[in-house]
Amino acid sequence: MRRSCSVSEPDLHRALVLGVLGAAVVTAAALMLITAPYGRHGRPGWGPALPARLGWILMESPAVVLFASVFAHGAHRAEAAPLVLLALWQVHYVQRTVIYPLRMRGGRPMPVLIVALALGFNSVNAYVNARWISELGAYPTSWLADPRLIAGALVFAAGFVINLRADATLRALRAPGASETGAGRYQIPRGGLYERVSCPNYLGELLEWTGWALATWSLAGLSFAVYTAANLVPRALANHRWYHATFADYPAARRAVIPWVL
Ligand SMILES: NC(=O)c1ccc[n+]([C@@H]2O[C@H](COP(=O)([O-])OP(=O)(O)OC[C@H]3O[C@@H](n4cnc5c(N)ncnc54)[C@H](OP(=O)(O)O)[C@@H]3O)[C@@H](O)[C@H]2O)c1
Repeated sequence: MRRSCSVSEPDLHRALVLGVLGAAVVTAAALMLITAPYGRHGRPGWGPALPARLGWILMESPAVVLFASVFAHGAHRAEAAPLVLLALWQVHYVQRTVIYPLRMRGGRPMPVLIVALALGFNSVNAYVNARWISELGAYPTSWLADPRLIAGALVFAAGFVINLRADATLRALRAPGASETGAGRYQIPRGGLYERVSCPNYLGELLEWTGWALATWSLAGLSFAVYTAANLVPRALANHRWYHATFADYPAARRAVIPWVL
C-alpha cells in the first residue's frame, strides 16, 4: 500500500512561523547570556570575519532579493494592498541592505558566523512574510482603508524615521577617515531621542515591525515583530551597560530602549 505524506503550503508556512516564534525564545535566552560579538561587543574567538560593509550587504540581501522574488510568484502580486505592503518592506530593506552599509563609517569586521545566522533567518523571514502578503493572506483592495493597515503604516513610518535619524546621529560622531581603533572611536550620542534612550535606532526598528504586524494583521508579521524584540532588547540592554561602563559621565536618566520604561 502506498502512503502519501504531502504537506500543504499553508501547513508548511504555519510551521515556519511557529519556528520563528520558537527561535525568538531561544534567541532572547541566548542573547541574555552571550552578547552577539559584533560592533562594540566584537571580541576574538568567534572565527573568521568579513569587512562590516560586505557582511551587512550579504546578510540582509535575502530580505530584498528573495522577498521580491517570492512576492512576484504570488497570485495577488499585482493587487493594490499587497503592493502597498511590499513598498513598506522594501523601503526599509533597500535602505538597510544597500544605503546603510555604503554610508557606514568604520564599522568593525563582522564574524562569518553572525553573517551566516542572519542570512539564514532573513531567508526564512523573507519567504514567510512575502508569501503571506502576495499569496496566502489574500488581502482585498478594501484592506487599504482598514484602520489596522492605516495605523500600522503610520507606526511603521514613525519607526523608520526614528531609526534613520538615530543611525545618522551615530554616523555623524565619526569623522570621515576616523581611526578604526583607539580612544575616541565611540562617543556619547546626544540630541533627539538619545536624550531618552541609549538605542533609539533599535526603538525605531521595534516600532517598524510592530507597525508591520499591525498592517498585515498576521501571525507572520507578529512573528517577525517578536523576533526583532528578542534580538534587539537584549542588545539594547548590553549597549546600555557598555555605555555606563565606558563613560563615567553617561547621563543617568537615559533608559536602554523604551523611554521611561526600559
Ligand atoms: N531587525 C533587526 O533585528 C536588527 C538587528 C540588528 C541591527 N538592526 C539595525 O541595524 C542598524 C545597525 O545596528 P547595530 O547593532 O550595528 O547598531 P549600533 O551598535 O548602534 O552601531 C551602528 C553604527 O554606529 C557606530 N556606533 C555605535 N555607537 C557609536 C558611538 N557611541 N559612537 C560612535 N559610533 C558609534 C557603530 O560602529 P562599530 O561597528 O564600530 O561599533 C556602527 O557603525 C540599526 O539601525 C539597527 O536597528 C536591526
